[in-house]
Amino acid sequence: MDAIARPKIVTLDEAQALLAKEPELIVVFDQNVAWVLESLLGDLPPAKAYIGLESSEESKTMDTVLALERQLMEADASRGALLVAVGGGITTDLVGFTAAIYKRGIRYANVPTTLLSQVDAAVGGKTGVNLDHYKNMLGAFRMPEFTLLCPEVLKTLPEREFKAGEAELLKTFLLRDAKAYAAAVKNGVKNRPELILKAASIKADIVSRDPYEKGERALLNLGHTFGHAIEHLAQEKGEDITHGEAVAMGIVLAARLSERIGLASKGLEEQIKADFEALGLPMQSPYPVQALGEAMRKDKKAAGGKVKFILLKAPGEPVIQELTVNEAIDDLR
Ligand SMILES: NC(=O)c1ccc[n+]([C@@H]2O[C@H](COP(=O)([O-])OP(=O)(O)OC[C@H]3O[C@@H](n4cnc5c(N)ncnc54)[C@H](O)[C@@H]3O)[C@@H](O)[C@H]2O)c1
Ligand SMILES: [Zn+2]
Repeated sequence: MDAIARPKIVTLDEAQALLAKEPELIVVFDQNVAWVLESLLGDLPPAKAYIGLESSEESKTMDTVLALERQLMEADASRGALLVAVGGGITTDLVGFTAAIYKRGIRYANVPTTLLSQVDAAVGGKTGVNLDHYKNMLGAFRMPEFTLLCPEVLKTLPEREFKAGEAELLKTFLLRDAKAYAAAVKNGVKNRPELILKAASIKADIVSRDPYEKGERALLNLGHTFGHAIEHLAQEKGEDITHGEAVAMGIVLAARLSERIGLASKGLEEQIKADFEALGLPMQSPYPVQALGEAMRKDKKAAGGKVKFILLKAPGEPVIQELTVNEAIDDLR
């Protein structure tokens, strides 16, 4: 019942061949990467419409989706149209959701232009927008027709955004491929398109086995339970921490917790910290565990009950462990 096709990851040539067959293309792009359009789509017949977006978490809302839906209507987009999302995770999340509800659902394809979206956001069919201060509160599962992985588009990506993507990529390798993790740690992933493709493929495999997150897909939350608490506190204090940075710090905390409850052998946290430090990723949460616990308790999913922590026995060997927030915080101290 749940079996769906594996998310399709394609090269530039393959994407161009697929797009050339489409009679009705509508391109929605992040204005910061308008330059990408020419090199990607320049040889194709003109699209029916080109819609530029501003990408910020503040504009990742239902209002933007509605504005897009109206632009689709104005462009007379039919049920056969294909939306092409060109941008980072904000753009692909927004466009995917817009596609999911326009005329009860039309197709879309992703051209992710950040490392984070290449290995994570643009692969796997989760789409959505924020509601008030709640991230990704509204959304739908809708698989893109394909995700184009093109290393070229990353050349203008700011270093800090690149690092944020690296954190998610390392997360994926820590779950399923200790060798690739070691390779990524050794030299980083700049100019290593094969590692980027590998991380995206591992995610695609996980999603194809568990598209609706009934089990295995939850592993992709490694580092995120703590990471979200860190992001939450940063936002409250008006401090600037990216999602990827928070995830890196969260993975270190997950490693510490894994050691403290006797799941991982001693040294895992130190190893991961050293790895992240070598890559220039942050590793230390600026907030004490007590404050993180409070933030996690406020998260309504955690209220009273147990939280599913994604922990590690070792790189490549994740374990889902249910603990209350109090238990986790006591162990971390
Ligand atoms: N759907 C999912 O499964 C999933 C998974 C992870 C994250 N996400 C979502 O993804 C979003 C974060 O994604 P992101 O980090 O890609 O954010 P983003 O889309 O905001 O991109 C980050 C910044 O980089 C700019 N940018 C993008 N590509 C560029 C390029 N090639 N050159 C120069 N600048 C470029 C953007 O304009 C933006 O300012 C969050 O909203 C998050 O919720 C979704
Ligand atoms: Zn993430």
